[in-house]
Amino acid sequence: MKISIINGPNLHNLGTREPNVYGDVTMEKVLDQLNKKYGKYCQLYYYQSNHEGAIIDKLYDCDAQTYYGIILNAGALTHTSIAIADAISSINIPVVEVHISNVYKREKFRQHSFTSPNAKGIITGFGIDVYRLGVLSLLTDI
Ligand code: DQA
Repeated sequence: MKISIINGPNLHNLGTREPNVYGDVTMEKVLDQLNKKYGKYCQLYYYQSNHEGAIIDKLYDCDAQTYYGIILNAGALTHTSIAIADAISSINIPVVEVHISNVYKREKFRQHSFTSPNAKGIITGFGIDVYRLGVLSLLTDI
């Protein structure tokens, strides 16, 4: 069972990016821990891009390869991208939207998401643990 974690713009530098907001744990560490915990239940794949079109291509790619689900942190594109929202609704696999910070506690512009209506569900505000919660939300029978 293949699960993809996709991170959008400015999430390549987790661990050092605004640690007061996003914490000081790197994505490498997160993936390592997730693989140790859930590796026997699923194969986890990771992709990050700072480019909107590349994220859209990856969503279709995961669909074509019949991934079981996608955990998507589209970063700021969450709040701007109708194109990513359309891609999510075009594909046939569930997308769980995650945000490290609680976007509802932050600026007004972060409180609108184009992608949420097309997501299976949303996990926001639990820090870096949102990626683990995202995996668990897809692996409902373990
Ligand atoms: C974020 C929240 C977004 O508003 C922001 O632009 C990000 C990260 C989060 O994980 O909390 O880049 O998606």
